[in-house]
Amino acid sequence: MIKPDGVQRGLVGEILGRFEKKGFSLKGLKLITVDRPFAEKHYADLSAKPFFNKLVEYIISGPVVGMVWEGKNVVTTGRKIIGATNPAESSPGTIRGDYAIDIGRNVIHGSDSVESARKEIALWFPEGIAEWKSSLYPWIN
Ligand code: PPS
Repeated sequence: MIKPDGVQRGLVGEILGRFEKKGFSLKGLKLITVDRPFAEKHYADLSAKPFFNKLVEYIISGPVVGMVWEGKNVVTTGRKIIGATNPAESSPGTIRGDYAIDIGRNVIHGSDSVESARKEIALWFPEGIAEWKSSLYPWIN
């Protein structure tokens, strides 16, 4: 999910391009402003954290872009493309390393496991995601 700062700063095209050029397949994409209950559900695992309210306020502060990417090891590799959670520790060349400074404004969220990706896809795309014919992208196996 591209967070409100990423959308407002005009980074949507850049971020989509990084995942596309790596070779991942776009299966879902939407611009959406989420409400508090939705954000609290998305971040339910963090509800006991001291920064939870601040994180929810941030995510509901403007439109975000929900995305579903498919490909070999996409969760692990996607998190490498995104970079460390705290931009002070993200390497240059990663999205957060190149475009963020503050952990509270770190531009993008990526699912941290296949299990959470499945849950997050169900939450963000209840209408379903796109089907691709595998013959169209034989370079990803
Ligand atoms: S933790 O404490 O280890 O569970 O947290 P972490 O995995 O590092 O981060 C989980 C998400 O919380 C966000 N986060 C914060 N937001 C605002 N302020 C502070 N201090 C803060 N610390 C962590 C962090 O960006 C992660 O969000 P997502 O959207 O999952 O990247």
